[in-house]
Amino acid sequence: MSFDVEQTDKLLSTTRAVRRRLDLERNVPDELLLRCIELAEQAPTGAGISSRRWLVIRDRSIKKQLADLYRTAGGNGIIERAKEHRGTSHPMQGVMDSAAHLAANLDRVPVLVIATIWGEHDGSGKPGLFDSVIQSAWSFCLALRSRGLGSSWTTLHLGKAKEFAEILGIPEGVTQVVLLPVAWTIGTDFKPASRRPASEIVWFDHWGYTKEDPAETEDLIAAGPGVTVEVDIAATPERVWELASDINTPARFSSEFQGADWIDSDGPEVGASFQGRNERTDVDRKWETTSYVVECNEPRVFAWNVNDRDQPSAKWRFELEKIPGGTRLRQRFILGQRLSATGTAMVENPDQAGQILASRSEHHKGNMLRNLQGIKDLAEKSA
Ligand SMILES: Cc1cc2nc3c(=O)[nH]c(=O)nc-3n(C[C@H](O)[C@H](O)[C@H](O)COP(=O)(O)O)c2cc1C
Repeated sequence: MSFDVEQTDKLLSTTRAVRRRLDLERNVPDELLLRCIELAEQAPTGAGISSRRWLVIRDRSIKKQLADLYRTAGGNGIIERAKEHRGTSHPMQGVMDSAAHLAANLDRVPVLVIATIWGEHDGSGKPGLFDSVIQSAWSFCLALRSRGLGSSWTTLHLGKAKEFAEILGIPEGVTQVVLLPVAWTIGTDFKPASRRPASEIVWFDHWGYTKEDPAETEDLIAAGPGVTVEVDIAATPERVWELASDINTPARFSSEFQGADWIDSDGPEVGASFQGRNERTDVDRKWETTSYVVECNEPRVFAWNVNDRDQPSAKWRFELEKIPGGTRLRQRFILGQRLSATGTAMVENPDQAGQILASRSEHHKGNMLRNLQGIKDLAEKSA
């Protein structure tokens, strides 16, 4: 048989957290839940042992007790924060409103399903136990979605796992992993979420090594090879931006980049260009480059192309992402189609092209890591 890939992809890309569109009135039959759990049980399980246990809860008074615990474990905080942010343009407003709605109405959802597993984490640092439950619980969510039902992955209650266990009679030695409120969805049309493209988060052979165009795997240069490094910084994006958008910051940390001057402008803006000075003492080489700012979106993206605005020999990019407690700073380098010294060496020595690329990538990676670490130290010191 062959799968309807379009349908399968739609299922995989549109199984979302459903909270405001859970139908609180329509009954969900047990047999439907059992069928979905049967499908979920096809997921891999450690050593082939059947250790997952599922709790299906529809008793009103039990649901009320669990919902109260969910609210004291954090749900009430979410309800408060959603109220505070209502009417503002906070980027998390939609998710907060939705999570607040669920917290306020958890006891009204027709069924609560809790996925558990026999066993306790051994503290070894290996995923161990949980890697036998999560894939199964997610299959359950997919099976629900394909039948017109929905859920939302929730773990807030785990702060009150002991109290849950008491109410439900869950024995010692069983770990609760996720609480899934289940209902028919109001409408079945859901959209894929906005996520980073795979090409930005997949490393080939080495941590941080990327390919812009994986269709060109055979041609090393055409594949647009690159390096990405990331660091989490305990400082605001605004503070990190000051350092990342200063074209002279890398000169403080790089073994190669000596500094740069703006040409006919005094700061980063799209269209501005700068002259950069480079030196490698290991290969006794000095050179200058002109770079063109192609994106400048304070405090999120600062990107420039080297040597040619449209057909660069390299593309460089800083991305700043607000994360809890600070900023994730990402620096990306992508070798361009117009040949740089590296590209030329690769073309002239096709047998060693892979080695040349790996060596240059490693060199960049080292400098980029030092640069990000330097920015982290400076930003955190002043934070
Ligand atoms: C590990 C984990 C725990 C979560 N815990 C909760 C929770 O306790 N309550 C809740 O309303 N949503 C919870 N969520 C759902 C996320 O908030 C959800 O992914 C987010 O709303 C975005 O929805 P989307 O992925 O469908 O776009 C959790 C998600 C994950 C992956």
